[in-house]
Amino acid sequence: MSNVLQPKVVIVIFGATGDLAKRKLFPSIYRLYQNGKLSKNFAVVGLARRGWTDDVLRENVAKSIGDAISPNEDLEEFISHFYYQSFDVTDESSYSGLNILINDLEGTYQTEGNRVFYLAMAPEFFGTIANKLQENGLKDSEGWSRLVIEKPFGRDLESAKKLNKELRAAFDEKQIYRIDHYLGKEMVQNIEVIRFANGIFEHLWNNRFISNIQITSSETLGVEERARYYDHSGAARDMVQNHMLQMVALLAMEPPISLTTEEIRSEKIKVLRALRNMDSDKVSQYFVRGQYDSGEIKGEAVSAYRDEADELADSNTETFVAGKLLIDNYRWSGVPIYIRTGKHMAEKSTKIVIEFKDIPMNLYYKRDKDKRPNLLSINIQPNQGITLCLNAQKSGSGSLAQPIQLAYNHNAVSGINTPEAYEKLLYDCMIGDATNFTHWDEVALSWKFVDTILDVWSKNEANFPNYKSGSMGPDAANELLEKDGFHWWDI
Ligand code: BG6
Repeated sequence: MSNVLQPKVVIVIFGATGDLAKRKLFPSIYRLYQNGKLSKNFAVVGLARRGWTDDVLRENVAKSIGDAISPNEDLEEFISHFYYQSFDVTDESSYSGLNILINDLEGTYQTEGNRVFYLAMAPEFFGTIANKLQENGLKDSEGWSRLVIEKPFGRDLESAKKLNKELRAAFDEKQIYRIDHYLGKEMVQNIEVIRFANGIFEHLWNNRFISNIQITSSETLGVEERARYYDHSGAARDMVQNHMLQMVALLAMEPPISLTTEEIRSEKIKVLRALRNMDSDKVSQYFVRGQYDSGEIKGEAVSAYRDEADELADSNTETFVAGKLLIDNYRWSGVPIYIRTGKHMAEKSTKIVIEFKDIPMNLYYKRDKDKRPNLLSINIQPNQGITLCLNAQKSGSGSLAQPIQLAYNHNAVSGINTPEAYEKLLYDCMIGDATNFTHWDEVALSWKFVDTILDVWSKNEANFPNYKSGSMGPDAANELLEKDGFHWWDI
């Protein structure tokens, strides 16, 4: 018998006809079931406006699972646990109907009153839904109730505060699970282990031995079907405020005294508190924004952002951000952390490169330009693993050196990674482990940092488009490092 915890639960998905449910949530719930992390004591209630029936939802669930992975014979049994209710988030009777349905399902599936409310829909309704759930007694069960919130969590500090206040009027902080799917990625979780389980890294993990850190998350996709959302958001809100700053926090945090949620979060929060908030007049020295022009990606011609949809014709929204961050504490003083992320770039890849300081005299290279510092690359996707770049004797050349690589990569099939992230996070939520979810303090500090940049950008029109689709972003993103004597490593 395995001793894996098998939560008993009713999962309620708001936005069950949407893209996220289809692409990520349904396959993830199925994988949990397949992997024995869900028993038969579960039910899923799908809610949305459309007049679907249980059968239509079940067909859609089966299809989305079939598109993502190869299902087993248990698929029929699995989808029989899915129920659909047509739902208007502002209408009281929708909530009373939901209450009756959940109570019924709790009887049928013996789920002990445990409920997950997953908000996978337009953020403007998050506050309303949370409050109506509470007012209509949907949280008053014998078991636990948890609220899972997708991003965006506000669009600046002010709106995030307002949303948080609304949520907190109905749910305690402990019941709120703010998803950042990067925190569910295997190699993002591995940052802590690589750092804190290896003396050879942790002893050197500071400003005495590290010259700079580079974090890149590049995408080949453009704005796709999400023009409305994306144009209102842009790369800083979509990627930097959450995913990129979360990776910075994990790379820079102090070792926690134990692996509890509270200890880990409190170390991450300290990093975000120590992030140097820029004066407005420094933003252009430290941050670069870009928007893609037409170009070619993997041999295919692709259009400029402004040509992707009519409403984007005059858009001033950034699809690329690069920046230099500084952390003002003992460990990191003086070490730049460079980040860059964007759409329509040369490749889909998320990677962290740690550049170690060079030794004072490296006698083994004839030309300075061939010298290579030691680098540690943490490969998050599509390859997952680590690569350590060292120097060793060039074969047959006496005392000349050449760069070599020690690599550990487990082959992740591209695309499998993200459903796995959701799978892990959903499971964590069901067993009550909030470590890999974002605490309100992290959200607030991240917005505070990003707000300064966005505020300056909103007051100055950008010179867009300024990078070709299929490139690694505008030239200014390279100059950002060159000014400091560095360059982006591609290893
Ligand atoms: C999401 C953003 O949070 O992350 C998307 O909204 C982006 O715009 C996506 O494409 C990237 O995630 P991943 O897992 O593909 O790197």
